[in-house]
Amino acid sequence: MGASLCHAQTFLFILLLFSNYWCSCLATNPIATSANNKDYIKISCDTTLYPQLCFQYLSPYADKIQTSPKLLANTSLSIALSATRSTSSMIENLSNTSGLNPTEKAALLDCVEELSDSVYELQGSMKEMAKADSGGSNFKLLMSDIETWTSAALTDDDTCTDGFEGNAMNGQVKTIVLSHVGEIEQLTSIALAFINNYAAT
Ligand SMILES: *[C@@H]1O[C@H](CO)[C@@H](O)[C@H](O)[C@H]1NC(C)=O
Ligand SMILES: *[C@@H]1O[C@H](CO)[C@@H](O)[C@H](O)[C@H]1NC(C)=O
Ligand SMILES: *[C@@H]1O[C@H](CO)[C@@H](O)[C@H](O)[C@H]1NC(C)=O
Repeated sequence: MGASLCHAQTFLFILLLFSNYWCSCLATNPIATSANNKDYIKISCDTTLYPQLCFQYLSPYADKIQTSPKLLANTSLSIALSATRSTSSMIENLSNTSGLNPTEKAALLDCVEELSDSVYELQGSMKEMAKADSGGSNFKLLMSDIETWTSAALTDDDTCTDGFEGNAMNGQVKTIVLSHVGEIEQLTSIALAFINNYAAT
């Protein structure tokens, strides 16, 4: 009886040793963790309207985001902001090219105005994001502000593309604007989805 108790203790000891080893191995294996982080981006992106674009832009940040809804929202916001900035500058440059008719030039300049409003609004969202912490006392209020700013950016992007609807516009200018602004609208929509998701935590 003494011997079998001893056996049982040895068995438990070995089991404990292995389970410790197994758990710490899972927790620190960088390859497993990295795959896990990428899965989180994939699963999250699949809940948005643009899963492929989302994964394309966010997967390079998987190891920074890990599985944090806050970092996911913040990173997607920051991506939308920098894309909006560069699209705005590209359209501003386009408005200076020769051979535009006055209607096109006016629509491009309006668009630059609207996109600079978007930049301002997304910057506002980023500032509030830095203060928002789930569990913080004014979390709900901050998140609601961020949702408002980000939705306003989406509306401004949309107002830009509205200026190019109709047949009067040159095919090429219209195509360039619609494709670039279309992409920042999608990126902003993705950011808004992740902001809503973080707000619900
Ligand atoms: C806009 O033009 C400026 C000056 O020509 C240039 O430095 C900048 O890279 C251009 N921006 C884009 C987005 O093409
Ligand atoms: C566009 O041209 C205006 C003057 O017509 C100039 O002030 C502005 O800097 C130019 N913008 C870019 C981005 O090249
Ligand atoms: C959000 O992203 C910006 C830009 O990458 C970064 O500077 C900032 O520290 C991030 N904020 C949070 C709360 O992670």
